[in-house]
Amino acid sequence: MKDFFETVRHRHSIRQYRSDLPVEEEKLHAILEMACAAPSAGDLQSYRILVVRDTEKRHRLGELADNQQFIAEAPVALLFCSDPQRAMAKYGERGEKLYALQDATIAAAYAQLAVVAAGLGSTWVGYFDGEQIKKDFTLEPGLEPVAILSIGYPAELPAETPRRPMSEMVTQI
Ligand SMILES: Cc1cc2nc3c(=O)[nH]c(=O)nc-3n(C[C@H](O)[C@H](O)[C@H](O)COP(=O)(O)O)c2cc1C
Repeated sequence: MKDFFETVRHRHSIRQYRSDLPVEEEKLHAILEMACAAPSAGDLQSYRILVVRDTEKRHRLGELADNQQFIAEAPVALLFCSDPQRAMAKYGERGEKLYALQDATIAAAYAQLAVVAAGLGSTWVGYFDGEQIKKDFTLEPGLEPVAILSIGYPAELPAETPRRPMSEMVTQI
């Protein structure tokens, strides 16, 4: 098991996956558990996670994400949706507009790190046609697609990605 700092440092987007290695059910379960362990506003967990294993559905998801082929190639895709109405019931407009989106995003971020800890790879996909996904995947009314994570065993060594100097993002006040 990697420690937390190592896990974060080892996370890089993976866009090529081993087609011969499925994602084990126990690993997927552990990843989903970590997503659901993330903090959320009022502990309401105003999100839903759709697990997409079916080949045709993954192909369609890839098409709806500007034909990003790796989504179809990865054996699993997780679609994170926010549930604004759930957050709105307790927190009004702030819950609807902000908290539900944050809840779904944090859950996806936890899942992405759990993927690395489990020896798998993923890419966070934010570019997709959310309205069409709602229709094609008959999402429950009110759910808003926020992010897709493609998940599988890496078939590439990803290049290190640079980061801006911390001082550009961090201000001491
Ligand atoms: C909000 C968001 C949207 C993203 N959308 C896409 C995407 O549609 N397609 C893709 O290949 N990568 C996407 N990425 C991955 C980023 O390109 C990647 O995280 C960034 O270049 C840094 O590389 P690294 O993940 O290897 O550190 C997205 C990441 C985030 C956080």
